[in-house]
Amino acid sequence: MFQVSLEKPGDGPKIEKLLDQSFGPERGRLTAYCLRADVPALAELCFVMRGAAFLCATIRFWPVLIDDHIGTVLLGPLAVGQAWRGQGFSKILLRHSLARAKALGHASMLVIGDPEYYKPFGFSSDLTNALVLPKAVEGGRFQACELIDGALDGVSGTVTPAIRPYADPQGAAPFAPGS
Ligand SMILES: CC(C)(COP(=O)(O)OP(=O)(O)OC[C@H]1O[C@@H](n2cnc3c(N)ncnc32)[C@H](O)[C@@H]1OP(=O)(O)O)[C@@H](O)C(=O)NCCC(=O)NCCS
Repeated sequence: MFQVSLEKPGDGPKIEKLLDQSFGPERGRLTAYCLRADVPALAELCFVMRGAAFLCATIRFWPVLIDDHIGTVLLGPLAVGQAWRGQGFSKILLRHSLARAKALGHASMLVIGDPEYYKPFGFSSDLTNALVLPKAVEGGRFQACELIDGALDGVSGTVTPAIRPYADPQGAAPFAPGS
């Protein structure tokens, strides 16, 4: 019996191993990692799928900003252990995450990945035409989906890492979904 649950504190090393196996040890050079540096993942959107004794799959999300003020989330990495692929696990994790992100108030989601894989979930590169990544990626791999219709209408600018809400005595702008 496999179940989706939030990551637990002790899952980190197993997830790192799964990601190394899935993306290779050089994965830190991928463009998406520029947007994750020095910023923690969104714990409320980091899910794993596990069986009795195995952690089979992982999905994580990072907070990012468009044009320094519009908060959204970057999907990834998403990986399913080789032995468990082709059984619908990634679809279950992704659908679960999309529903949770929407329930938590996020209006949109970005991803860098295979367009053929993400299209059935509502992602399109048409929605990122006006968005700029810190490092360019091959055509079509930078995609977005709207969790609220029209959320990305008229939105443009560079995507940068975001910080979580915090009490800043200097009054710096916090990250907030859809802000
Ligand atoms: C891609 C990956 C997450 C798919 O996981 P999975 O659990 O085997 O996928 P599922 O069984 O849920 O299948 C999902 C659908 O995507 C399709 N699919 C799987 N891998 C795909 C790929 N690389 N490109 C396009 N479509 C793919 C499947 O055929 C299936 O289609 P269907 O709904 O028409 O049957 C998994 O192969 C993996 O971890 N790969 C290495 C890391 C990676 O590439 N992550 C994704 C980043 S873009």
